[in-house]
Amino acid sequence: MLSRATARALSTTTQVNKNVAVLGAAGGIGQPLALLLKCNNSVTNVACFDVNPVTPGVAADLSHIDTKVITGFVGADSATMEEAVKGADVVLIPAGVPRKPGMTRDDLFNTNATIVAQLTAACAKAAPNAVVGIICNPVNSTVPIATEIYKQLGVDASRIYGVTTLDIVRANEFVSVLGSQDPNDVHVPVIGGHAGVTIIPVLSQVQPAGCIDSLNAEEISALTERIQNAGTEVVQAKAGGGSATLSMAYAAARFADSVIRAMNGEEVVECAYIKAENLPGVDVDYFSTPLLLGADGKVKENLGLGELNAFEQDLVSKACEQLAGEINKGVEFAANYK
Ligand code: NAD
Ligand code: LMR
Repeated sequence: MLSRATARALSTTTQVNKNVAVLGAAGGIGQPLALLLKCNNSVTNVACFDVNPVTPGVAADLSHIDTKVITGFVGADSATMEEAVKGADVVLIPAGVPRKPGMTRDDLFNTNATIVAQLTAACAKAAPNAVVGIICNPVNSTVPIATEIYKQLGVDASRIYGVTTLDIVRANEFVSVLGSQDPNDVHVPVIGGHAGVTIIPVLSQVQPAGCIDSLNAEEISALTERIQNAGTEVVQAKAGGGSATLSMAYAAARFADSVIRAMNGEEVVECAYIKAENLPGVDVDYFSTPLLLGADGKVKENLGLGELNAFEQDLVSKACEQLAGEINKGVEFAANYK
């Protein structure tokens, strides 16, 4: 697998700038995400859409920053949803309610399923070739919802990605501290899904290889659990004020940048949660693995699970058990969605 440093080294000089739409742009994630995109020279235009009436102010605020990226407010109701995504190469969806202490991500399903269905229907109609990065939880179910909505509308769903980049960012950071490494050099693949035991950091494949070899089995298990529960750690620390926003904005900006670099001809690998039928070693139809991204926004090659140790194989079995129900819940919701 390519390290981030290798991916950077393979960068070509071709530069094709891209349009990004942020749906949920006035939220805790949406605002810093739009800011990071406004500061990314590979982005041409950031379209900000949110039902919150503060959104025109968010776009106005961003527009005073002296970077060449153009930002615009594109409306705040269902009539302008399609307008918001028209011409987008990448659509990011942080719209939706966040957790409070004591809640699971699945507890958000009732509210967020409808939001994702509405927004992705607009994407299917107005931006059928855009990459869609779904941040809204529960990702394990909202990605199947989006995929089924695309299927119902007769649109190719192979550019839909569940954004799990925050799990990788966290794993890289925690490993870098324990292994005394520069976080820029650390690469931890995180596979599975994005909730509790479905989050599987593959610590046996960490790069630089051997950097956490001093950890014993108990410490590896504790590190795994910390990565799996990192979202809850933030939810508890915010004590009712929401979930991760700043680290998520960073992660989503990195995901968007990776997609754009791949579109511009670079060889880029990111883990993301996608529809992946018949993936060896996995008995569910949606799973996150390292993906070689293509210039057309689709997966060029699914790099799969790689070699797992017995501990990690057991984590995959547990993840699949939970994922099966969460995937099915999303598929059933979409089947009944009008
Ligand atoms: P937030 O409440 O701060 O912001 C959500 C925004 O969505 C609000 O501005 C709201 O007005 C907007 N919104 C609601 N319905 C909308 C619609 N139909 N169209 C457009 N905008 C709409 O919440 P947040 O902290 O930004 O979190 C957003 C979502 O991201 C939550 O579901 C949260 O669980 C999820 N999340 C995912 C990850 C991940 O790793 N994938 C990480 C953190 C948070
Ligand atoms: C996270 O991992 O931080 C997000 O999924 C938000 C949450 O509810 O934990």
